[in-house]
Amino acid sequence: MEEEARSEERGASDAEEQAASSKQQAGASDAEERQQASGGSGEPPTPDAETAESGATDAGAAGDEVTDEQSGPGVVEGQAHPGVEQTAAVQVPEAHEVGVSDELRAEIEEIMSRYPQKRSASIPVLFAIQRRYGWCTPEGIREGAAVMGVSAAYLESVASFYDLFHLDPAGRHRVLVCTNISCWMRGGDELLDTFCGATGVDPEDAAHGGAVSPDGEVYLSGFECLGACDLAPMASIDERYYGPLERRDAVAAIAALISGGEVLPERAMAKRPLAGGPEGEPDPRVANAG
Ligand code: FES
Repeated sequence: MEEEARSEERGASDAEEQAASSKQQAGASDAEERQQASGGSGEPPTPDAETAESGATDAGAAGDEVTDEQSGPGVVEGQAHPGVEQTAAVQVPEAHEVGVSDELRAEIEEIMSRYPQKRSASIPVLFAIQRRYGWCTPEGIREGAAVMGVSAAYLESVASFYDLFHLDPAGRHRVLVCTNISCWMRGGDELLDTFCGATGVDPEDAAHGGAVSPDGEVYLSGFECLGACDLAPMASIDERYYGPLERRDAVAAIAALISGGEVLPERAMAKRPLAGGPEGEPDPRVANAG
């Protein structure tokens, strides 16, 4: 039983676990700036905070489950994110308006079934949207909001807080290279430089918020500790962890991404054998990723 539990644990997305357990980049991010600019406390949005600010609905009051009646289609809730059309953003979208696919709906409903409060599913739902569209598109957010029964403004406010979510086009692949202390001591900066050379991303851009390669294929960014220091120097590539990496691995990884080949199988954390445990099953979300 213990081995099965550990095997299932390995199947979970490395990046999702990281997003759920820790605040992102140490430096002030765009999301933080937007939070602060709008009077936010620097904490991720919660149903309580949203309700207290807007006073528009009782949905999500302290400790209460948000019921379908409180947050169903057409219900006005929350405040629109700056730049988002107010009326559309604060209403729970009607499912028939957004045309969500059966596949995405099923995935979101399965995610929601894991949590007693549906808003707790926001982060994995946003990952599902980002995997489907390459970034958290306005349409994708409205689709997710319609299935969840929350406003698009609420879901976008969660996405804007975390660096792992992109609210603008961000390439087909995402490479985050850790340059924090353990990785830095083992060549993390040089590794990031090599990724820059392989992708064409400017090193200054990569080190300060990240950028998309000139061909639009790869988003590359230096990153603070990704919580896998034993792999130092390491990188997260399309939500999977790889390490310890040598500079030549950076070139091989980008070549594999562009050609559609398998990325650094001998460096993948997911392929590390467990002590006495079975081999892990491939993650279907990765296997089926377009
Ligand atoms: S310092 Fe790189 S993963 Fe922790």
